[in-house]
Amino acid sequence: MQTNENTNREARQSLHGNWSSRLAFIMAVTGSAVGLGNIWKFPYMAGQNGGGAFVLVYLLFVFLIGMPVMMSEILIGRRGRRNPIATMKLLGQEEGDSERWKWVGVMAVSAGVLILSYYSVIAGWTIAYVPKAIFGEFAGSDAQSISLLFDNFVSNPYSVIFAHTLFMIINFIIIASGVKGLEKAVKFLMPGLLLLLFVLFAYSLTSGSFMDGVRFMFTPDFNALNWDGVLTAMGLACFTLSIGMGAIMAYGAYLPQETSITNATVSVVFADTSIAMLAGLVIFPLVFANGLNPGEGPDLVFKTLPLVFGQMQVGTFLATIFFVLLSFAALTSALGLMEPAVAWMVESTQYNRKQSAATIAFIIWFLGLGTALSFNSLSEFTFLQGTIYENVDFLTSNIMLPLGAVFTTIFAAWIMSQNSTSEELDGHGFVYKSWQFLAKYFSPIAILIIFLQAIGWI
Ligand code: PFF
Repeated sequence: MQTNENTNREARQSLHGNWSSRLAFIMAVTGSAVGLGNIWKFPYMAGQNGGGAFVLVYLLFVFLIGMPVMMSEILIGRRGRRNPIATMKLLGQEEGDSERWKWVGVMAVSAGVLILSYYSVIAGWTIAYVPKAIFGEFAGSDAQSISLLFDNFVSNPYSVIFAHTLFMIINFIIIASGVKGLEKAVKFLMPGLLLLLFVLFAYSLTSGSFMDGVRFMFTPDFNALNWDGVLTAMGLACFTLSIGMGAIMAYGAYLPQETSITNATVSVVFADTSIAMLAGLVIFPLVFANGLNPGEGPDLVFKTLPLVFGQMQVGTFLATIFFVLLSFAALTSALGLMEPAVAWMVESTQYNRKQSAATIAFIIWFLGLGTALSFNSLSEFTFLQGTIYENVDFLTSNIMLPLGAVFTTIFAAWIMSQNSTSEELDGHGFVYKSWQFLAKYFSPIAILIIFLQAIGWI
């Protein structure tokens, strides 16, 4: 039986090719993880929740939940070597359980499509801010006019839809060319992103308030953090690492057999966390240097930073760099959000990769219209959680991601045999035992807490 399993596993090849190197895989997964979540969401949430204590708790969750869930996703993906739906179905049978596990894959793929529908709209805002930056629209403006600039832009459905469309077209072009296209894209995008962040970091070092930013981010004041904040930090850790929705599983399917999953996970988590920290270290000193409010909220990037840039001598240049950077980060994340659905369509229908990518991109684009219009024409159209955007966000972030992550770890740690998991994770040593403990008990329980909180049961 064991020999058989091994033979199956070794003979199984991804239908979309493999990553050319371990580094390419790490960059692709990092590209998916680093996005609006790190650069836009992390700083504003850290700001709203008082800084230090929130950051500390976030970091704890990244390591204690993020790592084991990510390892589970990669090992499942590589073992199945299919899209998340087919992989869960195949492994469910192979591990002697049920093929009904495919429903976890279905939920994961749907979550990707739904998340991307609104992610693309926000990414569109980011793209739209590039020409605003280039043409110096922030230069010398006060808070009121910067705020008005954003409100005016967002209240015009045509410009928001145009930016959303542009973002989806770029996405389609990159994803239609297959894994090779993905690789080329991330090889160029990731180092560019890091470089741009360092340029901004160098500026913030000289801003005069660098230490204020550092103190805010790293001095824990537990009075500033309530239970809700703890749960928010846990949810943010899942979101920024892209876990719970099959993206990492789909990328794992292209991972060569000899690559160490543990090492890859450590590199990705380290890179993702460093970029979030770097983003914080860029943003907070700038916020303090200009007497702004760190708890500004989701508007922080769009309404506050342009103001800061507008006051700086080289502001036009830096603002351009910043929004280009954010667009790149959003693009590489979007590729990860779309890949599971495209891989599923290529494998399960007669459509080729280009046709599948076009179909999925169109569906996402169409769904995204709901979000694009939530900020203008349809802002009065509310039900359940609020606008269309608020409902999609609630459904995905608060329900689907936590559920996806819980089921993924439960499957890897409880349903898969020790033989299978130790084979993928190379052995029975300390790392394996730690993974097993965290994946079996800690992560599912902790994530279940986020989930119950999100639906208001606790
Ligand atoms: N991790 C991305 C971010 O921080 O922006 C968002 C994301 C991408 C979530 C891909 C989930 C995913 F599958």
